[in-house]
Amino acid sequence: MKLLRHVAEWLSEREQIQRQGLRLGLVPTMGALHAGHLSLVERARADNDRVLVTVFVNPTQFDQPADLAAYPITLDADQTLLGDSADYLLAPPADEVYPRGYLYQVHENQLSQRFCGAHRPGHFDGMLTVVLKLFGLAGPCRAYFGEKDLQQLELVRAMAADFFLPVEVVGCPLVREGDGLAMSSRNRRLTPPQREQARLFPELLRSAPTAEAARQQLAQAGFEVDYVEEWAPPGSLRTHRLGAVRLGDVRLIDNL
Ligand code: PAF
Repeated sequence: MKLLRHVAEWLSEREQIQRQGLRLGLVPTMGALHAGHLSLVERARADNDRVLVTVFVNPTQFDQPADLAAYPITLDADQTLLGDSADYLLAPPADEVYPRGYLYQVHENQLSQRFCGAHRPGHFDGMLTVVLKLFGLAGPCRAYFGEKDLQQLELVRAMAADFFLPVEVVGCPLVREGDGLAMSSRNRRLTPPQREQARLFPELLRSAPTAEAARQQLAQAGFEVDYVEEWAPPGSLRTHRLGAVRLGDVRLIDNL
């Protein structure tokens, strides 16, 4: 796997990939990689000739400066974890991804305002903007996103369709820890007692008879609950129960 720290380095690799007519799979990440990310990379590897993983902690999608400051950056460990499962790891600096600052923005008016969007103003604009940039930069045939961030996945899928982007957006199943907690880069910021408590999040989300009951039981168990709601993504036959909670300053999301 080649580690590329600059956009220009990647662009010369891309030229060769395109010249050879190879299919590229993109796995966009913010680093602090875990087994959930690896499952995306494995799927990308199976579907494509070349795999690019990007590690970019996108400043525009953080609504809380403290959350951005605390976001784990572990590029050496990420590189080790990936090994040779991807062909390229691109980790560019922010001024190369936003050469003119945050001048151009993608704004979605509907779904991005609900669920997580209602609690994180501007989050989905920043996320969609960087994903559009990464699609333009990478030029992938397919891009891989986890179903843990179900709202993100649906927004990216719809953006790609609405802008006629020549990329297939592939959703991959959520991966859980042994005790059921959804894998997330933010889990490593939990203190040991918080980590112990966190396993109740998926448990109560699953066992409560209604979304409202889940909300109450989570609050009683000491979580600060942003929301618990039921939602069927457009065109999907499955109804999901989505939730977001906070333990101290760590925000966790899940869906079943
Ligand atoms: O899911 C994430 O890690 C990020 O939102 C993404 C898709 C890499 C965009 O910054």
